Amino acid sequence: MEINFESLKAQVRDFTADTADEIEAFRVAWLGKKGKLRDASAQMKSVAPESRKSFGQQLNALKAEVNEKIEGLKNALAEAGGDKSAGEDLTRPSGQEPLGSRHPVSLVRREIEDIFKRIGFSVAEGPEIEDDRHNFSALNFPPEHPARDMQDTFFIEKNPDIALRTHTSSVQVRVMESQKPPIRIIAPGRVYRNEAVSSRSHCIFHQVEGLYIDKGVTFADLKQTIAYFAEAFFGKTEIRMRPSYFPFTEPSAEVDVYWGLENETDYRITKGTGWLEIMGCGMVDPNVLEASGIDPEVYSGYAFGMGIERIAMNRFNIGDIRLLFENDVRFLNSFKGAW
Ligand code: PHE
Repeated sequence: MEINFESLKAQVRDFTADTADEIEAFRVAWLGKKGKLRDASAQMKSVAPESRKSFGQQLNALKAEVNEKIEGLKNALAEAGGDKSAGEDLTRPSGQEPLGSRHPVSLVRREIEDIFKRIGFSVAEGPEIEDDRHNFSALNFPPEHPARDMQDTFFIEKNPDIALRTHTSSVQVRVMESQKPPIRIIAPGRVYRNEAVSSRSHCIFHQVEGLYIDKGVTFADLKQTIAYFAEAFFGKTEIRMRPSYFPFTEPSAEVDVYWGLENETDYRITKGTGWLEIMGCGMVDPNVLEASGIDPEVYSGYAFGMGIERIAMNRFNIGDIRLLFENDVRFLNSFKGAW
């Protein structure tokens, strides 16, 4: 059977519609499983081989015309203020808005907050634009001290006293200045370091700080709190503390959890050691207490700080940190419903 493409095209061109239902019926009649285009392409077999090419081209042109027509009708309908068949009922429920998803960094931050809230910590906040005192000097980094180089800092050019905070430890100082012990806070937030070493390094990331100050707080309290956290968050019961150095804590330690070495992923994330580093911590240096008006002869305390991105990568098995910053919706959508 010969197909008259010109007459089919004319049918498409002449079609008009006022409602979404009519447009949909048109779409089904032409592009649906039993639609006219299906019928036409079924004829392909009976077309003489030398004419098949031009038959195919005409079929494609017709299909394009149908699609264009549908687009045009939809746009015209939208411009005319929507589907007239729906009447003027303004109480009609609107279409459902698609729900977004929480970012993996937020998911982990909230989980960490919940774990510490259960044992009496409250959440504190501080500014991301800080002065030298809160980010450094009150934390026992004297001016010119080489420890300042541990954290490459973004300073404000016109005023070297102002910088983007390099760690959430600045919030410790703010809380100690404004509250009397006992103090038991965690401070989650964004921090900044000038670390453009490679495309994999990031200048903005997130930390959670912890601070506990009271009479008679000891290193044993610190260790117990971290062991509780490791079990609550990672489900791991073994931790170890390695001596380390931070100007604001003495003694200082890095904490590892024993992760195990059962499969390839365990080898990768623990670099073959079985241990995963999770945070830095220590007993608050007496100089730090004193700088904020707390008597170190009466009070003692501990502090800890951890990076959220690393923990989120571990929790969700994310191999490349850049995924956490690119905000590709295909990636973010995979966290739908994971509150
Ligand atoms: N502020 C430290 C860092 O950013 C982490 C830390 C916090 C260490 C509190 C000890 C106590 O590396």
